[in-house]
Amino acid sequence: MAFSSSEYLSSVWKDGIFDNKVVFCTGGAGSICSVQVRALVHLGANACIVGRNVEKTERMAQGIATARKGAKVLGIGAVDVRKYDSLERAVDRCVKELGAIDFVIAGAAGNFLAPISRLSSNAFRAIVEIDTIGSYNTLKATLPHIIASAARNPNTGTNASTGGRIIFLSAAFHYTGAPLQAHAAAAKAGIDALSATASIEFGPRGVTSNVITPGPIADTEGMDRLGSKDKESAAAALKRVPLQRHGTVKEIADGTIYLFSDAGSYVNGEVLVIDGARWRSPMPI
Ligand code: HXC
Repeated sequence: MAFSSSEYLSSVWKDGIFDNKVVFCTGGAGSICSVQVRALVHLGANACIVGRNVEKTERMAQGIATARKGAKVLGIGAVDVRKYDSLERAVDRCVKELGAIDFVIAGAAGNFLAPISRLSSNAFRAIVEIDTIGSYNTLKATLPHIIASAARNPNTGTNASTGGRIIFLSAAFHYTGAPLQAHAAAAKAGIDALSATASIEFGPRGVTSNVITPGPIADTEGMDRLGSKDKESAAAALKRVPLQRHGTVKEIADGTIYLFSDAGSYVNGEVLVIDGARWRSPMPI
């Protein structure tokens, strides 16, 4: 994990804004979430990332910890967000070793391209279970800690110190419908609904719940899995992005820092789409 900070961190952010904060992230070894966490750690946070693969998760945690001298980053593998018990154990360990959970990123996701005609019922269910139920499990398991953090860091609009915030990772497939993505579109619609509901139920406790929706982000597993494979159709796909380029993981990290920072304290129940307006540009059948 050799990263220079300019690859994942905007120069507008100040060192130390997340000192003494702890972020808990599912899917944390993935290409987007690991960079979101890395940027938060760079700015002062400690972190716990969880994932299914033990070796990949532990190795990624070690890599993220190099973002800041003295950073504590816990990597807990063998955690499947579909299994509530394994998630709860990871949350307990995070709180025991790092002291709290102030921020949550529910990022674990599964996806592949398949038309409805070739999608088995089990395949559809697998994605809904990973994305929607996994996000619900993450919210449920971390909720007492998120509420406690919000109580320690009252959301008054004038605090530099923040806490009690959750970000769900979603996608824009369900805004318009997207070919070969019925499973993910249904699953992500559920995530958006979950976040909106959480924002209302827990807003009175000072908690914020928001969604980040990445578009086509370069050098990610999502692009590898879902992007066009041949040069010609990849170029045509890029032309449909109004900004005419892929996004970067840094741009997703920037949105994350904004929502967790003092600057985002009155943003609740929102969806931050970071896709260069890709979803507004019609996709040919
Ligand atoms: C059709 C498929 C398939 C495919 C799997 N299945 N891949 N069907 N086309 N390409 C079917 C299987 O045949 C099976 O159904 C069912 O899905 C479950 O598959 P399993 O392998 O048993 O499940 P599991 O081991 O839990 O694997 C989950 C998975 C897998 C999601 C299917 O691909 C995975 O673990 N992926 C890693 C995580 C991942 O996908 N990350 C990418 C996130 S990208 P049957 O009927 O045979 O039992 C992303 C982009 C966001 O989210 C987009 C932002 C714009």
